[in-house]
Amino acid sequence: MNKDNLDQISDWNGAVGRQWAALQLDLDAMIKPFGDAALVVAAAKPGQGVIDIGCGCGDTSIALALEVGQLGSVLGIDVSLPMLEVARVRAATAQLPNLDFSHADASTAELPAGIDLLYSRFGVMFFNQPASALRHMRKALVSGGRIVFACWRTPRDNPWAMAPLVAARKVLNITPEPADPFAPGPFAFADEVRLHQILVDAGFEHVAIERFDAEVVLGKSVHAAAESSTRIGPVARLLRELGDQHLPVVVDAVKSAFEASANLDGRVIMKGSTWIVSARNPA
Ligand SMILES: C[S@@+](CC[C@H](N)C(=O)[O-])C[C@H]1O[C@@H](n2cnc3c(N)ncnc32)[C@H](O)[C@@H]1O
Repeated sequence: MNKDNLDQISDWNGAVGRQWAALQLDLDAMIKPFGDAALVVAAAKPGQGVIDIGCGCGDTSIALALEVGQLGSVLGIDVSLPMLEVARVRAATAQLPNLDFSHADASTAELPAGIDLLYSRFGVMFFNQPASALRHMRKALVSGGRIVFACWRTPRDNPWAMAPLVAARKVLNITPEPADPFAPGPFAFADEVRLHQILVDAGFEHVAIERFDAEVVLGKSVHAAAESSTRIGPVARLLRELGDQHLPVVVDAVKSAFEASANLDGRVIMKGSTWIVSARNPA
């Protein structure tokens, strides 16, 4: 494992990874539209070799394995043991012999050669040195092979993440400190110009960055959405820093913030905004 990424590796093997593993079905449903948009752009073909970077609980690895078929292969790579454990059980249930998983840091791991496609759904924003990490992965690609991934755009256009955080900060009377917007984390690739440069620095060409927005279903009820926001995402992080004694007051504040966004059927739905990125390994 790369020592530069130790903080993230520790998070994804600790509370964050355990919560993702526990809530994987709900989270898969929440982020499916964005991963699907990237799958469409990736257009994996039968017989291709694919790496799913930061594959987590394996949802997209399974989708890719079905697309490339028995003559193709998919390697899901991730640093999180609790999430890989879920991925392995799901892959065994799906009976896909062309799908394998590796517990490793994708930025330095030994990767199979001759890969046609590097794919990721929200798994590439956690590298301390993103250009060198992506350069390392690019070397696994065949000439003309592609990278395609989904990453979040600016927090401002992602109220599913910001609305509960603003509510939590307000009730706890917290003024946020200025933070490094490029630090490893969900929004590290939000800046389009920087993102483009990272891919160029990694040696890719034909970089295309398209905006893709979709609805994020946060929960089947205001209560469920508020509970889930305190277990995963920026509010969960805040609570981990401040302590769980604040949980009841935060849940109430987040519930009030979500009430305005609840549908007639009670579901809480908010907008999510991403970049769908594609680039090519030079021939
Ligand atoms: C937001 S989750 C997305 C998981 C999965 N792609 C999905 O869509 O459900 C980010 C994933 O990136 C993984 N990750 C973070 N840093 C990594 C690294 N250096 N190498 C491999 N995986 C990493 C995390 O463990 C986590 O599973």
